[in-house]
Parts: sequence; C-alpha cells; structure tokens
Amino acid sequence: MSSRSSNSRIACVMVGLPARGKTYIAQKVCRYLQWLCVSTKVFNVGNYRRKLHGAHQMHSFFDPSNEAGEIARKEAAAEALKDMLRWFEDENGTVAIFDATNSTRDRRSFLLNHCKKHDIQVIFIESVCQDEDLILQNIMEVKLSSPDYKDMDPERAAEDFRARISHYKEAYETITESDYTYIKLVNVGSQVVINMIQGYLQSRIVYYLMNLHILPRSIFFSRHGESIFNLMGKIGGDSDLSPRGRKYANALPKLIHEHLGDQPLTVWTSTMKRTIQTAEQLPYPKLQWKALDELDAGVCDGMTYEEIEEKYPEDYANRDDDKFNYRYRGGESYRDVVLRLEPVIMELERQQNILIIGHQAILRCIYAYFHNNPHDELPYIKIPLHTIIKLTPKAYGCAEIKYKVDIDAVDTHRPKPQPKSAKQVVNGRSSIASSNPLTNVAS
Ligand code: ATP
Ligand code: F6P
Repeated sequence: MSSRSSNSRIACVMVGLPARGKTYIAQKVCRYLQWLCVSTKVFNVGNYRRKLHGAHQMHSFFDPSNEAGEIARKEAAAEALKDMLRWFEDENGTVAIFDATNSTRDRRSFLLNHCKKHDIQVIFIESVCQDEDLILQNIMEVKLSSPDYKDMDPERAAEDFRARISHYKEAYETITESDYTYIKLVNVGSQVVINMIQGYLQSRIVYYLMNLHILPRSIFFSRHGESIFNLMGKIGGDSDLSPRGRKYANALPKLIHEHLGDQPLTVWTSTMKRTIQTAEQLPYPKLQWKALDELDAGVCDGMTYEEIEEKYPEDYANRDDDKFNYRYRGGESYRDVVLRLEPVIMELERQQNILIIGHQAILRCIYAYFHNNPHDELPYIKIPLHTIIKLTPKAYGCAEIKYKVDIDAVDTHRPKPQPKSAKQVVNGRSSIASSNPLTNVAS
C-alpha cells in the first residue's frame, strides 16, 4: 500500500463537446490554485494532437468511424497522460487538469484506471451547454483563431468546426457513472450536479466552479489617494488622506464614470480611513471588507523602510531575499495575504462590475490572480498611487487599461534589490542604488 495520504494528488479530467468552455474552465481553475500556492498544471490534449499529427486536421479526422483518426487521437491522449503521470511523480505535482473532450465512457475509464494505479484521485468536470447562440459565439470568438484553422477562411473554418462538433455528438456519452467523482455544469452553472466529492481540495474546486460566470463585466482597481503616511514614507498605519489624496478622491467619480458610463457598479474598500475617504464621493453602493486591509507590518507598522533597515537589519535582508514568504514579526507575509484574500476572489468571481479601492500589497495580490503573475514577482508589481486600472476578462485572460490621473503623488514602490553579485563597485567599494521610495516623485 502506498504511504501517500489519499487526498494529496488530484487529476481534474474535463468532459464535454467542443466549444463548451473546457479550456476556459481548465485555465481558470489552474490560475486559482496556482495563486493559492497549490502546484497545478494543465495538460491540453489538443496540443499533443497538433504536435503528433499536425495542426491542420479537418473534421473527418474526428469522425468516430475514421479508424486512423481514432487511433491518432487515442495516441495523443496517451502521450498527455504519460506526461501528466510523470509530472506527478517527478515534479511533485498536486493538481493536474487533463483538458480534452473525454466524451466517451471508454476514454474516462481508461484515464481513471491509470490514475488509480498511481494513487491519483480523479474528479471529472463536465460542461454541458445547450445554448446554440453561446456555442456559436464561442466558435467565432475562440475557435477561429485556433492553430487548427490558421490562414483559413473564417466561414469555412466555422463550418468545419460545426462538423467536428457533430462527429463528437455521435459518440458522446454524458457522465452517468454513479461511482465516479464528478461535477456537471449545465448551461454555465445554471444547474450543477455533483457526485461523490470528497476532501478539502476537491470541495474548494467544486465551490470555485459553482461561482463562475461569463457575463461581460469589468473590475476596476485604485489605491487610496495619497495619505499622510505615504508622504512621510511610513508604512502601514491608519492615516488620513493628504491634500493631494483628497484631490484624487474628488476627481474619482468623474473618472470612473468616463470609463464605465451608466452601468451599475459596487465599490469595495478596506476598513481603513484612507480607502473609505477615497470612496466617499462615489455615488455607488459600497462595502467595507476587513480582508482588504493592508498587509500587516507587525512591529514595523508606522516605520519608514530606512528605520526598519536600521532597527531590524536581518529582517530587512530576509524580506529582500524572499519577499513573498517573508512574514513581518507579529504581522503578515504576502503568502498570508493571498490566503486571506481568497473569499474576496471568490466573491469577485460571482459579481459583475466592481471597483476595489485598496492598498499597494492587497492590489498586487488581486492583480496577480487575474494576470497569473508568479509568486516571486507578485510583491514587486507596480500599482502606483493615483492610477486607475481596468481589467476586462476575456476568453483566456484579461484585457487591461491603466489610466494615470494627473494629480501628483509620491512613489511608494520599492524595486527589487539587485542580487549581491550585481552590486556596482564604486571607487573600490560596493554600493547599491538608493531605494528610498521618496527620492522618486511621480509626475
Ligand atoms: P475544445 O473542445 O474545442 O477545446 P472547449 O470546450 O475547450 O473546446 P473553450 O476553448 O474553453 O472550449 O471555449 C472558450 C469559450 O467558452 C469562452 O469564450 C468562454 O466564454 C466560454 N465558456 C466558458 N465557460 C463556459 C461554459 N460553462 N459553457 C459554455 N461556454 C463557456
Ligand atoms: O507604503 C504604502 C504601503 O501600502 C504600506 O502600508 C505597506 O506596508 C506597503 O505599501 C506594502 O508594500 P511593500 O510590500 O512593497 O513594502
């Protein structure tokens, strides 16, 4: 018997006809889990098929009565499976997402048997969609730009893709295997069927999937207006806005309206004065979240970076070494903040237009969720004061507009220090460029 704890490795196996949002769902789950520090990877069988058998396969390749096509497709699935199992073993993976149609009982039992042998739990994620308009929209928005149809006339490509779907329909068997762990999302979650879900991680995945929607919307980020502590170079605290910060707060309603028009919006702030004061003039419903409060700097709260370096040199150096994991004495790390923001992300997925008036570290974490920034880069993402960021989710990512408001503010960004070996040598002595955020005033 294996010594591995039984819920340590999960393969999420996507199921569904083409253009049902499987890749979309796979990538979102992957991004969410990676953000939560769970080692996760997507194995897309389409990519293996293109690599093994070429990109330009017409619909007849997918015809279930085409024996050569069947063999070729099974080969691609087997290659992807082999890589997935190798990834679990060699790279200590936790959650793999096996992205393919997996639309027959046969294929599902083949995958399940291999995973069982390797002590990997399987959760099938099926997307069923009967909304023909949405399917057509998916084909036009996503499928025509697939490498399968590169340089092909869009009308011919759409027709070929519809023929491909018809072939899959001939062999498709929706999941009814009562002894399998599965979640079935019908018409983008308007109905959800779940079966035999067990363990914490599986429940998290299921809960996340239940909260997804694909209605068009935007998410706006802004830091609070410049605060008195920002002006003094002090971190943390609960200070008021500076006069320039108040000017920004007064300008915000018009600016948001320019980017949003008359659409509905909800404003989220932290429970700190500087975000509440920044939101004051905004004519929208507002919600305060404790979870949006700035990263807690513990004993360093209220100090400047220079004071921290002087009083706690070892801590200061440790933070520079690994800023994502460094936890302030009596305070938090970025890793802690990501975990406390998880309910905020879940609620963001459920909502439509939201404006978050937040703090530097908090907005870095939320921004990284949408853009999939790696954890070592996350604490250095630039979120300047007096800047509005508008994110609009698209099929496989997010479009972004960054709007710098013409009201001066200090620059609180402390860049990543140069590695020791890259220290400059000046007159025989080493020196590192000054990183005092206040030497750098944004125009
Ligand atoms: P294929 O089998 O050809 O790879 P697929 O099922 O992976 O197709 P996607 O490429 O993920 O389909 O389709 C992306 C589109 O699906 C996006 O435009 C997205 O808005 C939409 N979508 C997301 N979730 C769903 C869903 N649950 N049902 C239908 N469409 C969805
Ligand atoms: O300086 C503004 C601020 O929001 C502080 O309150 C907070 O400690 C800091 O930014 C977070 O940024 P960093 O992680 O780069 O120190």
